[in-house]
Amino acid sequence: MKAVTCTAPVNIAVIKYWGKRDTDLILPTNSSISVTLSQDILHSKTTISTSPEFSQDRLWLNGIEEDITKNKRMHNCFRETRAIRKEMEEKAELAGSPIEKLSTYPVHVCSENNFPTAAGLASSASGLAALVYTLSQLYELTISTSELSRIARQGSGSACRSLFGGFVAWEMGQKKDGSDSLAVQIAPETHWPELEALICVVSDAKKGTSSTAGMQSTIKTSPLMNERINHVVPARMEQMTKAILDKDFQSFAELTMRDSNQFHAVCLDTYPPIFYLNDTSRAIMQLIHEYNATSQDGKLKAAYTYDAGPNAVIYAPKENMAEIIQLIGHYFPSNKESTAFFADPYQVVNGTLGQDF
Ligand code: ADP
Ligand code: DP6
Ligand code: CO
Repeated sequence: MKAVTCTAPVNIAVIKYWGKRDTDLILPTNSSISVTLSQDILHSKTTISTSPEFSQDRLWLNGIEEDITKNKRMHNCFRETRAIRKEMEEKAELAGSPIEKLSTYPVHVCSENNFPTAAGLASSASGLAALVYTLSQLYELTISTSELSRIARQGSGSACRSLFGGFVAWEMGQKKDGSDSLAVQIAPETHWPELEALICVVSDAKKGTSSTAGMQSTIKTSPLMNERINHVVPARMEQMTKAILDKDFQSFAELTMRDSNQFHAVCLDTYPPIFYLNDTSRAIMQLIHEYNATSQDGKLKAAYTYDAGPNAVIYAPKENMAEIIQLIGHYFPSNKESTAFFADPYQVVNGTLGQDF
C-alpha cells in the first residue's frame, strides 16, 4: 500500500466565477480572480492510499463515508491523473525500468476540512485542490501547476485557483476542449504582505442551494447575467489585475465590493431567486460602509466579499485590522446560542500550498 497526505488552502474570489458554458468540463462563462488564504488557519487535509487489495474508489469526508459512485467530478480527477500516471508507467516499461502500476489500483481518499463545509467558505476549492495535488504526489506526476489546475478545474471550478498562492486568475479560455481554461498566478503571496483577510463565520450551516446548482439556475433564468458576463466582468478583470499589481487598495476594495454585490444581485435575479446572504451578512456590509465613511482622507479602509453563503470575508490593510476586529466583535458578539448574531473572526494572511507526508 502507498499513502500520501497533503493540504491545500482556500481561495476567496474578488471577481466572482458564477456560471458554466460547459457543465461536464467545468468551463466558466467568465474569468475570475481570487486571493489564496494562508492554510495555517483554513485548509483541507487529504490522505490518499492506493493498493491492489482495494475493491473500489472510496471517499471519507470529515470522518463520514460519502457515496461517490455518481460523483462525476471526483471521477474526472481520478481519470485525468491516472491517465498521466499510466503514460509514465508505459514509458518506464519501454525504457526497461518498470514502475509500479499504481494507475490500475483503486484509491481510498480521506479528507478533513478544518472549517465549515459547503457554507460558502470555498470548501470545494480547497477540497478538490487537495484531492488533485495529493493524487499528483501519490503518482509522482511531473506536470506544471497550471496543468494541475486544469485537472482541479474539472473537480470544482474554484479549485483550479487554489493550486497557486497569492493572487490568482482563472482565465476562462476559448477552446471547446478546455485546454486553455486554467489558473495563472498574477502575483505571489509575498507581493502585498500588508493585505490581510478576516473571515467572519456568520453561520456554519450547509447552504440550501449548492454553488453548482445555483449557478446553472442563474444561467438559465437571469437576464442580468448577460450584462455581467459580456460587459462588466471583462472590464473588471483588467482593472482588478492592475489594482493588484499596483497594490492599489482603493481600486481593489471598490471592485471587490461591487463584484460581490453584483454576484448576489444575479442570484436575486435568478428565478426563483437564490438567497445566500442573511440579515447578519447585510448588517456587516452596512457596518463596513459606515466604517469607510469615517475615513479622514476619504480613502476606503476595508472591503467585504461574500461567496455563495452568508459568511463575510473582509480584506483590509494590516494597519486597520485590529480596529475592524474590535468593531465586528462589538456589533456582532460571539454568541453560540443565537446564530443570527454570531460572528467569529479568524484573521488570515495570504498563503501557499503545503505538503505534509
Ligand atoms: P463551498 O461554498 O463550501 O465551496 P460548494 O457547494 O461549492 O460549497 O461545495 C461543497 C461540496 O464540495 C461538498 O458538498 C463536497 O461534495 C465537496 N467538498 C468539500 N470539501 C471537500 C473535501 N475536503 N474533499 C472532497 N470534496 C469536498
Ligand atoms: C461564489 O467552484 O464551488 O464561490 O465549479 O460547480 O464546483 P463548481 O462551483 P464552485 O463555485 C464558486 C462560486 C463562488 C465564486 C468563486 O469562487 O469564484
Ligand atoms: Co464551492
